[in-house]
Amino acid sequence: MNNSVTVRPATRTDAGPLIAVLAEAFHEGPLADWLIPDPDDRRTVYYRYFRDALHHGLQHGEVYTTGDQSAVGIWYPRLEPLQASSSEERLNALEAIAGTYAPKFMLLEEMFDAFHPEEPHHYLAYLAVDPQHHNRGIGAALLTDHHRRLDQFGLPAYLEASNMRNRRFYLRHDYTAGPTIVLPTDGPIIWRMWRGAPHANGRTPFPPTRAHQPTW
Ligand SMILES: CC(C)(COP(=O)(O)OP(=O)(O)OC[C@H]1O[C@@H](n2cnc3c(N)ncnc32)[C@H](O)[C@@H]1OP(=O)(O)O)[C@@H](O)C(=O)NCCC(=O)NCCS
Repeated sequence: MNNSVTVRPATRTDAGPLIAVLAEAFHEGPLADWLIPDPDDRRTVYYRYFRDALHHGLQHGEVYTTGDQSAVGIWYPRLEPLQASSSEERLNALEAIAGTYAPKFMLLEEMFDAFHPEEPHHYLAYLAVDPQHHNRGIGAALLTDHHRRLDQFGLPAYLEASNMRNRRFYLRHDYTAGPTIVLPTDGPIIWRMWRGAPHANGRTPFPPTRAHQPTW
C-alpha cells in the first residue's frame, strides 16, 4: 500500500488530464484489440469515448482522482435495479463517438448490462492509472479509499475485469470471480468480480447470475 497517495473527489476542472489517463491506460489489452484493432483509430475514438464516460461519471456517479491527477476511478451507486434506457439513443451516441466501431461498443455495453447483478452495490465502471505511474500502488490506493466507504455502509462492489493481470489485482483486493462473459467473434473473456459486504464469516458471496440475456 502506498500511503503517500492522496485521493479526492474529481470535478469538471480535472476533466482534461483524467480523460487522457483513461484513454492511455485502456489503450492496450485484449478488449482494446477486439474493440478497435487499428491503434491510431483506437486512440482517436478512445479520447472521445472517455470524454463521454468521464462527464457521465461526474454527472451521475462518483469520480475520484489523486492529488497529481495520475489516476481516476469512476463508481456508480447501483442501489436499485437499473432502469431500461433507449438503445436507439445510445447507439446514435456511440455512432457519433466511434463511427463504424459503434456496434462493438454497443454489444459490449449490452452484454455488461445483461449480466449486471441486481443486488444493491457500487459498480466500478473504470479504474485507470497513467501508464507512466503504474506499479507504485496508486491503483490500490484509489481502490482501497472507496472500499473503506463501502465497508462502512455495508455495501458490496462489482466490476468487470478484462485480463488475467487485472483479475489477480482485484482478487488481492477481496473480490471473488464469478461466471465469465465471452464476447463473440474471437472476443476476450471478461471476468465478473464481486467484493461482498462485510459479514460475520467474511464477505457475502457472489450473487446468482440472473437469467436475463440480451435479445440479439
Ligand atoms: C489496473 C491498474 C488500475 C492498476 O494500477 P496500478 O497503480 O498499476 O496498481 P498497483 O501499483 O496498486 O498494483 C499493481 C502492481 O504493482 C504492485 N505494487 C503495488 N504497490 C507497489 C509499490 N509501492 N511499488 C511497486 N510495486 C507495487 C502490485 O503488487 C501489483 O502487482 P501485479 O503486477 O502482480 O499486478 C492499472 O494497471 C491500469 O490503469 N491498467 C489499465 C486500465 C485497466 O485495465 N483498468 C482496470 C479495468 S478492470
